[in-house]
Amino acid sequence: MRVVFLNSKSIHEGNLVLVNRHHPLRQEIDPDKLVPVDEKHTAILLHSEAQTMLSRLLTLLDAKDGIVPVSGYRSLQEQETIFQDSLKENGEEFTLKYVALPNCSEHQTGLAIDLAENKADIDFIRPDFPYSGICQEFRMEAAQFGFIERYQTGKEAVTGIAWEPWHFRYIGYPHSAIMQQKQFSLEEYIEHLRDFPEHGQHLRFEDEGHAAEIFYIRAQESSVTTVSLPDELPYQLSGNNVDGWVCTIWRK
Ligand code: DAL
Ligand code: ZN
Repeated sequence: MRVVFLNSKSIHEGNLVLVNRHHPLRQEIDPDKLVPVDEKHTAILLHSEAQTMLSRLLTLLDAKDGIVPVSGYRSLQEQETIFQDSLKENGEEFTLKYVALPNCSEHQTGLAIDLAENKADIDFIRPDFPYSGICQEFRMEAAQFGFIERYQTGKEAVTGIAWEPWHFRYIGYPHSAIMQQKQFSLEEYIEHLRDFPEHGQHLRFEDEGHAAEIFYIRAQESSVTTVSLPDELPYQLSGNNVDGWVCTIWRK
């Protein structure tokens, strides 16, 4: 076994961070991790891993003309401006439904992207991304590439945000596939993972080519938490932005 040391600050970093009004952003984004979403929209930035997977998915679906990016990474200042502008234009009720409070937006992580069907007059806050045609094909494949439709209908009370068919969040595979299968919001998935602690039964996942086991590591009171992992197996760690980390170990 190898012992890995986890610094408590890293709770706030990684693909699985939960960002909402109860769990504000607590990380500084490394600007080197942000890249243009594609060559036509160089002002729209995304986290590089999310950008790679989005690009692969759009290429697979031959959707680079049919689907356009509308909004990716936002700085705190940009989220503040969008929020204040929307308050003036649309009022408080609309704004609280469709625009996250400054410092509580997933867009500030670089892991969220708003997408639109390519047509004239795309609405910046609520772009059209219908449940038909190429947009629906994208939605059906998204989880295989690590993306989830983040704000689904019926989950408004859990997420605190209205139904947003256009907003996709990168969390990485296999978490995206598990969430889709179980119809979990990210809030519900992060909670569900608490049932699979490091020293207990782990969550098992299998698809045609891979098997993974997933477990939750609670942060200790001290500034460093240790975890023992098998020597020979690849693993990924992400903070949950609440109180610990999620570890994913891949088996053949
Ligand atoms: N529209 C989403 C909730 C945001 O502003 O982050
Ligand atoms: Zn969005």
